[in-house]
Order: sequence, then structure tokens, then C-alpha cells
Amino acid sequence: MNKLRVGIIGCGNIFPMHAVSAELSGYADVVAVCDVKEDRAKREAERHNCDYYLDYKQMIDEANLDVVHVCTPHYLHAPMVVYAAQAGKHVLTEKPMSITVEDANRMIQVSEENGVTFGVIFQNRYNPGPQLLKSELESGKLGRVLGARCSVTWMRTDEYYSKSDWKGTWEKEGGGVLIDQAIHTLDLMRWLINEEVDYIDAHIENRTHHLIDVEDIGEGVITFKSGVTASFYAINYYSYDAQVEIELHCENGIARMYGSKGTIQYNDGAVISRENDLSESIDFGEGVKSYWGVSHSKQIKAYYESVINSSKPFIDGYDALKTQKLVAGIYESGKTHTRVHV
Ligand SMILES: NC(=O)c1ccc[n+]([C@@H]2O[C@H](COP(=O)([O-])OP(=O)(O)OC[C@H]3O[C@@H](n4cnc5c(N)ncnc54)[C@H](O)[C@@H]3O)[C@@H](O)[C@H]2O)c1
Repeated sequence: MNKLRVGIIGCGNIFPMHAVSAELSGYADVVAVCDVKEDRAKREAERHNCDYYLDYKQMIDEANLDVVHVCTPHYLHAPMVVYAAQAGKHVLTEKPMSITVEDANRMIQVSEENGVTFGVIFQNRYNPGPQLLKSELESGKLGRVLGARCSVTWMRTDEYYSKSDWKGTWEKEGGGVLIDQAIHTLDLMRWLINEEVDYIDAHIENRTHHLIDVEDIGEGVITFKSGVTASFYAINYYSYDAQVEIELHCENGIARMYGSKGTIQYNDGAVISRENDLSESIDFGEGVKSYWGVSHSKQIKAYYESVINSSKPFIDGYDALKTQKLVAGIYESGKTHTRVHV
């Protein structure tokens, strides 16, 4: 089998997770990288022994790629995915899928029109803890979900924002703690509950980060059509990155995520839990946060398998769109101070 020819746009923080994962997958070669900052593009091209470009359109037009990875600021995901799909390339984008629901719909539509495989990174769904909770919920053993809550209390300093030329802005990041940090936890909770959302009632505010415009706290309720209410609380002005928490109160027990550890406590006393396998480690190089773990590699490998087999990827555009709509609904509710039906 010929290996997939991969090009990656954006040589910033998350780039190594994609480049190293692509190479380790056994299915792909990184043949081109692109960044508007030449020093970054050149450095990664040297590391990965490939070509580099400063213009993503030129890379897509000239590098004879099969797959494009999009690892750029949020507002660029939609135009880059659309351009790549129109050129007949399979595309995998980082979270969030886009800034707006309109863009997300267009990304799906253009991918379908051009017959390409479109995937969205939400790597935490590949962690053993969430996988355990999902399989126990799907088996019916836990019964119906009666209520849910989640919290994300992390630390993003003023320096984190002042160092970036796109974070902290509505136009380029699309929001703050919700669309960037808490989206992983909101995605997991929504995916585990797996019901249609009825309405969202939320509050957003900027309490401590006066250098930026976007929210650093979001809290509220997501009410599902079944009547289940899930409450969420997300801040990024805590004193460290505490473990994220998700709890689903179910008819036959409680399903919990604490950090990456998933635990089910059945009402009859049985307890099962699953944690990340610490023996599974990958050297992604310097500066890569250890909590990103190895699940990028799992998702990227599985995505390539979908490309090769022409099958639906585990997290496709439609699936990611549900989380995009959820986040957009939270922002609309928070900005308008109204209950928003999604
Ligand atoms: N899945 C995760 O856990 C996770 C973790 C971190 C970041 N991310 C996501 O990855 C994406 C990138 O985040 P980051 O932290 O790496 O950002 P970053 O700012 O470190 O890197 C973005 C790179 O894109 C480049 N870029 C900007 N405009 C460009 C253009 N027009 N053409 C080519 N390159 C361009 C920038 O120069 C920069 O090098 C975001 O969507 C972010 O949310 C995901």
C-alpha cells in the first residue's frame, strides 16, 4: 500500500502531536508543512525531512497531498478545510471545528460534495476512562441518565494571552474558556449522554483577564429533550489546572470522570474503573504538555484507516457539529441573557 501523503498547516503548539502521530501510524508520510511564520515552517520541515510552504493554498495546490491536517487558529479552520476539500483532499481539523455553526455546516457540505473524509479532533474520547463510561451506558447496565454535571477549573495567565496573536479575541478564537479549554469536557459529557439538546440557559463573563475580550467563566444548564438537565461550570482563572470532573447520575449507579480516570459505582456496590495506561507513552518532543497524552495518535491512526477504507471516521463533521451547536448555544444564551433552543 502506498502511504498517504500528509501536509500539516500550522506549526505551533499542537503540531508535534499531529506530525509524530502521522509518522508513527504506519499509514502516512508527512511530506509538507506550512506556517506563515517561516522560522516555524522551516524548523519543522527540517525535523520531518519534508518541504515547507508559507501559503496553505500553494501547499494544497502543489504538494500532491492525500490528507491535510489543520492546526491553526480557530477562525482559519473553516476556510482551510473548505479549500482543501474543494481540492479533493481529505481533511482532519483540530477542535473546535469552527467558530460558527454556519461555517461548520459549510465544512460538512463541501466535504460531502467533494467526496472527501472529514474528521475533527476530540482526542479525549479515545481515553480508556470515557470509553468505559460510554460502553457501560450503551450496554444499558446503568439505566437512564437522570442528571449530569461537569466542571473545568484551569489556569490561563495573562501571559498565556499576551503571548498569542489570536487567543482572547472573539474574531480569531471565537470565545475563551468555553470554546478553547472546556470544549473537550462539554464534548465528552454530550457524547456520553447522547441525547438531543432542548435548550441552554447560560451565563458568561470576563472576571479576571482584563487584557482580553472573551469570557473566562461560563456556567449554566443544558436541558436535553428527555428532560435530563446537565449543569456545567468552567473557569480559567484557577491557580492550577485541576482535574476535570464529569458526573452522570444514572438509574443504576453513578458514572464519573475525574481527570482521565473513569469510575462506575453501581447501586449494588460493584465498582469498575479505568485509567490511562501509563506504559503507553510517546515522545512528542520538547514543550508538549503531558496531559495531551497519546490519544491524538489513536484518533489520527483511526482517521487514516477511515480514509483508506472509505468509511465514516469515528468523529466526523456531523458528530462534531453537535458539540459546535452546544457551544454556540451557550454563547448565544450568555450574550443575550435568554434561554436558547438549539
Ligand atoms: N486537541 C487538543 O487538546 C489541543 C491542544 C492545543 C491546541 N489545540 C488546537 O490546535 C489549534 C492550534 O492551536 P495551537 O495552540 O497550536 O496554536 P499556535 O498559535 O501555537 O499555532 C498556530 C500556528 O498557526 C500558524 N498560522 C496562523 N495563520 C496561518 C495561516 N494563514 N497559514 C498557515 N499557518 C498559520 C501560526 O503562525 C502558528 O504557528 C487550535 O485549534 C487549538 O484549539 C488542540
